[in-house]
Amino acid sequence: MAFFRSLLVSFALTGLVITAVLAQDQTPIYERASAYSPVVATGGMVVAQEGFAPRIGADILAQGGNAIDAAVATGFALAVTLPRAGNLGGGGFMLIHLAESGETIALDYREKAPQAATRDMFLGPGGEVDKRKAFFSHLSAGVPGTVAGLLYAHEKYGTLPLETLLSPAITLAEEGFAVSFDLARALKRYGSRTMSKNPAAKKIFFNEDGGFYAPGEILVQSDLAWSLRQIAQSGRRAFYDGPIAERLIADMEANGGIMTREDLRRYKIAVRKPIISTFQGHEIALMPPPSSGGVHIVQMLNIMAGDDLAAMGQGSADSYHLMAEAMKYAYADRSKYLGDPDFAEVPVEALMDPAYATAIRAKIDMDKATPSSAIKAAAKLPYESPDTTHYSVADKDGNMVSNTYTLNFSYGSGRVAAGTGILLNNEMDDFAVKPGVPNAFGLTGGEANAIEPGKRPLSSMTPVIVLKDGKAMLATGSPGGSTIITTVLQTLINRLVHGLNVAEATSRPRIHHQWLPDLISIEGHASPDTIALLEAKGHTLRVGRVLGATETIEMRDGLFYGAADPRRPAARAVGIP
Ligand code: GLY
Repeated sequence: MAFFRSLLVSFALTGLVITAVLAQDQTPIYERASAYSPVVATGGMVVAQEGFAPRIGADILAQGGNAIDAAVATGFALAVTLPRAGNLGGGGFMLIHLAESGETIALDYREKAPQAATRDMFLGPGGEVDKRKAFFSHLSAGVPGTVAGLLYAHEKYGTLPLETLLSPAITLAEEGFAVSFDLARALKRYGSRTMSKNPAAKKIFFNEDGGFYAPGEILVQSDLAWSLRQIAQSGRRAFYDGPIAERLIADMEANGGIMTREDLRRYKIAVRKPIISTFQGHEIALMPPPSSGGVHIVQMLNIMAGDDLAAMGQGSADSYHLMAEAMKYAYADRSKYLGDPDFAEVPVEALMDPAYATAIRAKIDMDKATPSSAIKAAAKLPYESPDTTHYSVADKDGNMVSNTYTLNFSYGSGRVAAGTGILLNNEMDDFAVKPGVPNAFGLTGGEANAIEPGKRPLSSMTPVIVLKDGKAMLATGSPGGSTIITTVLQTLINRLVHGLNVAEATSRPRIHHQWLPDLISIEGHASPDTIALLEAKGHTLRVGRVLGATETIEMRDGLFYGAADPRRPAARAVGIP
C-alpha cells in the first residue's frame, strides 16, 4: 500500500527505525526489579490502544513534528483504525505540556447539548428513563467537539502542515487496512447489534456479504476518507459550517435528531486551567470539570496522604481497603456536586481541601468497610462497558500530550451520519437524564449535571501529566467509563508510591469502588488471599472484571519508557530509538 511505502521511504530518508514491539532485551533503570519491561526509546514515543495510529504519530515525530503534531495525527488516525472510540463525531480532553514555556494547557473539546435539548427529553410518559432513546437514537448525540479540539491544538501549537497530519488517516480510510483480531472481536461484540439496524453503519462495519469482519480482512471507509479530506482542505469550517455539516444535519433531520446547523456553527472548545496538585514530590496536572477525574483523584490522594501506602505494600488488602474507602466518599460527592462549571457552581476547591480529606479519613476504619448506605442513600446496579480511548505522546524536546476522547459507548449510538462515515456519539446519556437515577455506567447524577442547552455532560475522562521540577515526566489516562478515575489513581500510586516501572504499574491487578453499588470490583489476577482478607473486612467483592486500559509514557534521564496496557491486545508503544 502506498501509505506503508511512504512510511518506509520516510524511515530510509531520516535514517530512523521505528520499533513497535515490547523490548525484551532492554534493561530500564528503575528502583525495583520487575517482571515486565516497558518499551524504551531515546527519540520520542507514542502509545495508543492499537498499532497503526501510534506508528503514524511516531512517523510524524520522525519527520520533525512535535508532540502536538503527533497527537493530532494519532487522533485522526484512531478515528479510522479504532472506530469503537477513536472519532470525529465525539469529544474529549487533551492536556498539553509545553517544555519551552513550562505551561500545561487543558483543552476541553467535550460535546455540548444541542439548543433544543430539554431536561426531560429522555423520559417516557410515566416519567421513566427511556434507555433506547438515551443510548441509541439520534437524540443521544451531543454536538461533537473532536474536530474543533484537534484543529485548535494544531493551529496553536503544531508545526507541520495540517495536510501532512491528516494524510496517513486519509490513506488508511481510503485504501483500507487489515482488521486485527481485537477489532474483529470489538465490531462483533460491541457494535453489531446497534450498527446492524442503521443502514449507513451496516454498509461500513459489516463485510460485503453482510457478515462480521474476520481478522485479516480489509476494512475500507470511503465516506470517512471523504470527511477527512474535507477537513484537510478546509479545516474547521468543513465540519462545522461546510459540506460535512450539511450531511450531518441532513441525517439528523431524516432520523428525528434535534441537532441543527446553528448548533454546529456555535460549537466552541474551552481552554481551561488545569488542576495542579502536589504528590510525592511531584506536581500532577489534571483535567478540571466537566471532567470529574481531576477533582476526585486529588480528593482521594488527599484522603490517603497521611498513610504509608508504600509500607502497606502494593496489592495488599490494607492498601486496597483504604483506596476503596476513599473511592466511596469521592464517588458519593461526584454524584452530588459535579457538572459543567459553565452552568453549575462546582465546589472544586472545597472538594480538594486537605482539611475536608482529613475529616473523611477520620471516619475510615482500617479493619472494617463502611457501608455505602452510611455515606448516602442506595441506588441500582450498573451496566459497565469498556469504552473511550486514551493515548500519550512525548517528543525529544520534552513536550507531552495526554489525550482521552470518546463516543461514550463503543461505537457511540451505533449510528453513522449517511455519506460521512462518522459514527455519532451517545454522550447525552452522560447527563443525569433524571437526576438521582443512575446512567449506563451506574453513576447517579445530581442537579449540577441535569440536561441544559449548550451544556457539557459530566465526564470521567482523566488524562494526566505528572511533572518533576517543572518538567513533564509522565503521561497517562484510560478508557472504562466510571472506572477511568480509579484506574488512573492506581497507576499513579503504583508508579509514584510503590516505585514500579510503568509496565509493571500498568499490569498489576486493579480495584474499583464507585460508592453505589456497594461492592469492590477486583481483577481476576488479584491474589485469593487478598480477596479473602478484604471479605473479612466486610467488603462485597465482584471478581474478574477487566478494569481500564492505560497507555502511558514516562520521560526520565533522556529516555522514554512506554507501556501499552496488556488488557488491550492490539495496544502498542511505538518509540524512536
Ligand atoms: N463517556 C465517558 C466519559 O466521558 O467519562
